[in-house]
Amino acid sequence: MKDKTVAIVGGSSGIGLGVAKQVVAAGGRVFIGGRDAQRLERALAQLGPAADGHSVDSADDASVAAFFAAAPAIDHLFTPGASYALGRFMELDEATARSPMDHKFWGQYRVVRHALPKLDAQGSVVLMAGALGARVGLTGAAYAACNCAIEGLGRALARELAPRRFNTVSPGTIDSELWRERPAALREAAFESFAQGAPLGRVGTVEEVVDAVLFLMGNRFMTGSTLYVDGGYVT
Ligand SMILES: NC(=O)c1ccc[n+]([C@@H]2O[C@H](COP(=O)([O-])OP(=O)(O)OC[C@H]3O[C@@H](n4cnc5c(N)ncnc54)[C@H](OP(=O)(O)O)[C@@H]3O)[C@@H](O)[C@H]2O)c1
Repeated sequence: MKDKTVAIVGGSSGIGLGVAKQVVAAGGRVFIGGRDAQRLERALAQLGPAADGHSVDSADDASVAAFFAAAPAIDHLFTPGASYALGRFMELDEATARSPMDHKFWGQYRVVRHALPKLDAQGSVVLMAGALGARVGLTGAAYAACNCAIEGLGRALARELAPRRFNTVSPGTIDSELWRERPAALREAAFESFAQGAPLGRVGTVEEVVDAVLFLMGNRFMTGSTLYVDGGYVT
């Protein structure tokens, strides 16, 4: 990552911020974005002078265009920024059930389109899916389908836009801010249920996903692949 520039939409918290810290620690630069300006400022203050940023909402085309207009030339792009609702198939109304596709799938699709003019021809993109696509649970049929769609998008773009590389990271349940902001009872139940289904018997850490993202960016023979960082979750 030395002297490389990485853009991260969703870089002000959690896995995105973890990747930003690792890139900066390795001698690279980051250009990060998120919706909340104060959260973004706090993240930039933590990252120091090798970081810059701009607020962005991946659900809004004009906002994504403005983000990349402000961005420098980039070597790698990471796209974890999304928010959406989960729930059981018969309990969600259609608008809520559509939220993973509307925000997580189309958000990343839009971000990649706007990023391409700034992305080095030898550069790479790491998309964010989620292991609840391949290893399904009971609270997210639409979310599972969305994660599979993101993996498919990554494979298709790897073919169409080569030699730029496109890979997908697909984490299991990770102890990040996303969960720390949810009610404690919900978080504990989700963590326990995930730990029971995972051969490694626990949820993952942000650092474990960061390692996988950095590997996908750095390995020049990886494209069109999905890495499951999920403790072997099986049910
Ligand atoms: N943590 C897990 O267990 C887990 C497991 C599997 C997959 N994932 C995936 O990883 C992604 C990141 O998770 P995390 O745990 O790192 O969450 P997090 O700590 O909540 O971080 C999410 C980041 O994305 C930004 N963001 C959210 N919506 C956005 C939008 N519409 N446009 C631009 N930025 C947006 C947030 O900032 P603002 O809120 O200020 O916009 C924040 O910087 C999740 O969305 C999920 O798809 C997470």
